[in-house]
Amino acid sequence: MVEVRDAVAVVTGGASGIGAALAHRFAAEQAAAVVVADVDADRAAGVADALPGGVGTAMAFDAGDEAQVADAVTRIESGVGPVDLWCSNAGVASGPGLGDDADWQRCWRLHVHAHVLAARHVLPRMLARDRGHLMITASAAGLLTEADTAPYAVTKHGSVAIAEWLAIRHGDTGVGFSCLCPQGVATPMLTGAPDDSATLAAGEVIPPEQVADTVMAALADGRFLILPHPEVAEYERRRAGDRDRWLAAMRRLRARARG
Ligand SMILES: NC(=O)c1ccc[n+]([C@@H]2O[C@H](COP(=O)([O-])OP(=O)(O)OC[C@H]3O[C@@H](n4cnc5c(N)ncnc54)[C@H](O)[C@@H]3O)[C@@H](O)[C@H]2O)c1
Repeated sequence: MVEVRDAVAVVTGGASGIGAALAHRFAAEQAAAVVVADVDADRAAGVADALPGGVGTAMAFDAGDEAQVADAVTRIESGVGPVDLWCSNAGVASGPGLGDDADWQRCWRLHVHAHVLAARHVLPRMLARDRGHLMITASAAGLLTEADTAPYAVTKHGSVAIAEWLAIRHGDTGVGFSCLCPQGVATPMLTGAPDDSATLAAGEVIPPEQVADTVMAALADGRFLILPHPEVAEYERRRAGDRDRWLAAMRRLRARARG
């Protein structure tokens, strides 16, 4: 269970979409400090300055660059305070289909390696204090795949896998772990999706504030898997129950999306 009130929270990818909604929600829950971390310094400053209670601090760094992450963690812990909640949330959309090598590298870097970097540089400090929480934003695509873009779908499976690995390895300590797996969320990332996107056809596109509500409830409950679209749990059961039937259903979904 995570107590957000009086906590020091860090949100990577905090300048937009889900990250910005999380930052606002944590501030509204009276976090002591909310670090809005993003590669986009100006937008991070805009979000941090708008947080109620003056709790926002903007920090510009690349969540996929080890030297920058290490430096940011040191600066946050010495300048803002020991991190109670790190939301490893930054992510990128990818080119269509099988993608090119640049798509694979960009997705691997943010959807897998950035979480490893968070675990490498933040987690040891939390473990030493025997308190803290690491939340990884994956995607329903990390549980169920999706037919639009292979680099995104495959590396989001990696996001889920590293979150599970960390929870198995360290979940019996005072440090907690969770994995956020939404389907469609109305953010700039989804704005670029094509009309025939299977993600858009898969179900309701919800506002990022609704994702933040679900995250708050799950953190309070101490739940690992955070599903803002609850139907994803049933889809995952069907996938595990009959893989061939589920693959056929995914093919039908793609065909429906393409009209
Ligand atoms: N929008 C959706 O439908 C959806 C669904 C499932 C999962 N997600 C995941 O949620 C997370 C947030 O996505 P969003 O929809 O809010 O997207 P968004 O594009 O609105 O926000 C992503 C933010 O990440 C930042 N960012 C990109 N590269 C970065 C880097 N190297 N270091 C630090 N920051 C970086 C961007 O500047 C941007 O502010 C992502 O991991 C995404 O894959 C989104």
